[in-house]
Amino acid sequence: ISCSATTNHVLEKKQQIGFTENGVNRIESLSQVSGVLGCQWGDEGKGKLVDVLANHFDIVARCQGGANAGHTIYNSEGKKFALHLVPSGILNEDTMCVIGNGVVVNLPGLFKEIDGLEANGVSCKGRILISDRAHLLFDLHQEVDGLREEELAKSFIGTTKRGIGPCYSSKVIRNGIRVGDLRHMDTFPQKLDILLQDAASRFSRFNYTPNLLKEEVERYKRYAERLEPFITDTVHFLNEAITEKRKILVEGGQATMLDIDFGTYPFVTSSSPSAGGICTGLGIAPRVVGDLIGVVKAYTTRVGSGPFPTEMLGKSGDLLRSAGQEFGTTTGRPRRCGWLDIVALKFCCQINGFSSLNLTKLDVLSDLPEIHLGASYKLADGTPINSFPADLSTLEQIKVDYEVMPGWQTDISSIRKYSDLPKAACRYIARIEELVGVPVNYIGIGPGRDALIYK
Ligand code: GTP
Repeated sequence: ISCSATTNHVLEKKQQIGFTENGVNRIESLSQVSGVLGCQWGDEGKGKLVDVLANHFDIVARCQGGANAGHTIYNSEGKKFALHLVPSGILNEDTMCVIGNGVVVNLPGLFKEIDGLEANGVSCKGRILISDRAHLLFDLHQEVDGLREEELAKSFIGTTKRGIGPCYSSKVIRNGIRVGDLRHMDTFPQKLDILLQDAASRFSRFNYTPNLLKEEVERYKRYAERLEPFITDTVHFLNEAITEKRKILVEGGQATMLDIDFGTYPFVTSSSPSAGGICTGLGIAPRVVGDLIGVVKAYTTRVGSGPFPTEMLGKSGDLLRSAGQEFGTTTGRPRRCGWLDIVALKFCCQINGFSSLNLTKLDVLSDLPEIHLGASYKLADGTPINSFPADLSTLEQIKVDYEVMPGWQTDISSIRKYSDLPKAACRYIARIEELVGVPVNYIGIGPGRDALIYK
């Protein structure tokens, strides 16, 4: 696609969508390679920002994770789309979507998503490029995920049982099968046999019948044919695009507090949703990565088990859950809710070096008479803690010191200018900026594409 054709189209589009002048300037000044990453435990609303920004980028790329992401976005007519693997840029017809080498790809799921998009008038042909180096996530990985959770019984990690962890395990122990291997169907059965045997030898309940291999090979022969036009050397494609000065937006899945290295281990995901994952998951150099926007909810949520220092239990947590519709897109599981955790957010800003933040779901706090900010941690004996602790036992016993701020108790969902926000809301935002040292340039005040304030 040519840059100038894209730019003209984009100019018309942004007028249709009704961006404020400030918004247009802010987005257009983002660097050639920019990224949107989650700051908490996922579900911050990254999908919406990516979708809004995608109008201004030629390429949107996913660099890690799999179908455990589950972004919810709306098109300009307000139609809802739940995406799992396809980058959120797909709703913008001029945007190319790249699924990078760091992503794990479940083909039945991917085709189902593509079919759903096409049935709703979103053209995917020629617009989705899948890395030949990305690993294939088979049904066997999903089965192993369930068997592992059962085995771990009470100490379970709380995965989505989509096979993401087992697929990354195959990658790391080096018996994984990659998208590019589908181009060599002569050696594919042997590779799949090794994977299946591995699962069967590890789990006695894994049912490996002689027919299974045959059936899977037949199924994947059909998938291979359908996938062929999508398979691309995306490392080459992206680096060429950089040379040609095309703009690339990286769409992060999950979030830093779920990072395999920096998250609340072992209650984490199996990839790196932090800045480092951009380079390893796409094959682009650190020096080309420019602006990174951290997406953070105005409060905190987390799905499943694991430490959550600012969690609100009981009625107050229930109120936030129902006001924010905090139920998983993929699983429907209720999310645990709590106050904004500044210590975790600061830690996340350090690791990722964000140029700005997108504070989302500020509207959800609108009914509250007062709002708490988890400003600092201390140990049970009162000793202050300066950074986010690595070990679970410390995290479990820490006490959070809160700053209490007045609420605004008025509906803000139709406001579009920062200066029109209630003073108490501005003070809340300003205090967050002050505590973490990163500007909040984007403020979400509703689920719709246009419900975004540019500061
Ligand atoms: P993961 O990749 O799974 O972590 O999800 P995500 O960060 O992409 O979250 P998602 O885009 O699915 O957003 C979560 C929900 O919040 C969706 O239902 C969005 O429509 C909604 N949402 C996003 N921004 C806002 C906002 O500012 N206000 C309100 N009320 N809802 C919002």
